[in-house]
Amino acid sequence: MSRTGAPARLGEGDGGATVPRHLAIIMDGNGRWARGRSLPRVAGHRQGIEAVRRTVRAAGEAGVEVLTLYAFSSENWRRPPAEISYLMGLLTHYIDAELDQLHGEGVRLRTIGDLSAFAPEVRDRIDAAKERTAGNDRLTLVIALNYGARAELVGAARALAREAAEGRLAPEAINEDVLDARLETADLPPLDLLVRTSGEVRLSNFLLWQAAYAELYFTPTLWPDFDEEALQAALAHYAGRQRRFGGL
Ligand code: FPP
Repeated sequence: MSRTGAPARLGEGDGGATVPRHLAIIMDGNGRWARGRSLPRVAGHRQGIEAVRRTVRAAGEAGVEVLTLYAFSSENWRRPPAEISYLMGLLTHYIDAELDQLHGEGVRLRTIGDLSAFAPEVRDRIDAAKERTAGNDRLTLVIALNYGARAELVGAARALAREAAEGRLAPEAINEDVLDARLETADLPPLDLLVRTSGEVRLSNFLLWQAAYAELYFTPTLWPDFDEEALQAALAHYAGRQRRFGGL
């Protein structure tokens, strides 16, 4: 299997794979969950944290190696300031409240996205959690924060241009694997399954390159209602797919 997700040779694919090594989730529908109960939007986010806890546990138990969660997109800054600061508070609260347990369960915490826009105290909490869990290897939990796939690709293009301009890389040597190695996900297994909750059917600038060969699964379940059963349904969908990577 090459880094870009397609098998190195046709016919060598993991068509028989049952559990995705790398699962990513666009956690959508918190606002609608709250509106359906006449609650403020932030109540949906608070409940969404419970779904994060359940899903991290269930994904680890199912044998998923990497779980990537889209927690805050580069477009989410357009939300009202009060909602943004509530989300930041939830994130730091989640890390504070869960770190011991995550660490005890062998979870390694990672992030993708540009953290420079976050308050120093939020960044410090995240950095400390990443450092403490760096040696764990049961499940890698990747939280996408201020992440946008196009910005990630622009960053990779810039890195390649810099290396070429400095004479360290021949333009002819640039291929899919070389570009892939400049992405933030470079050292993670290829994305196998991408789930989006809440019935919306779009990628919203999430892992666009990585999703090229991923199985896509859209469920009407709102994120705060996502539970082990919902995860099992997504995993069953994946297990039932024959991935052909363009072959027959
Ligand atoms: C989408 O629902 C959800 C978000 C933008 C935030 C997701 C964040 C969390 C669940 C909490 C933080 C996460 C971690 C990993 C600790 P929406 O508000 O767009 O819902 P709507 O489309 O129904 O309005």
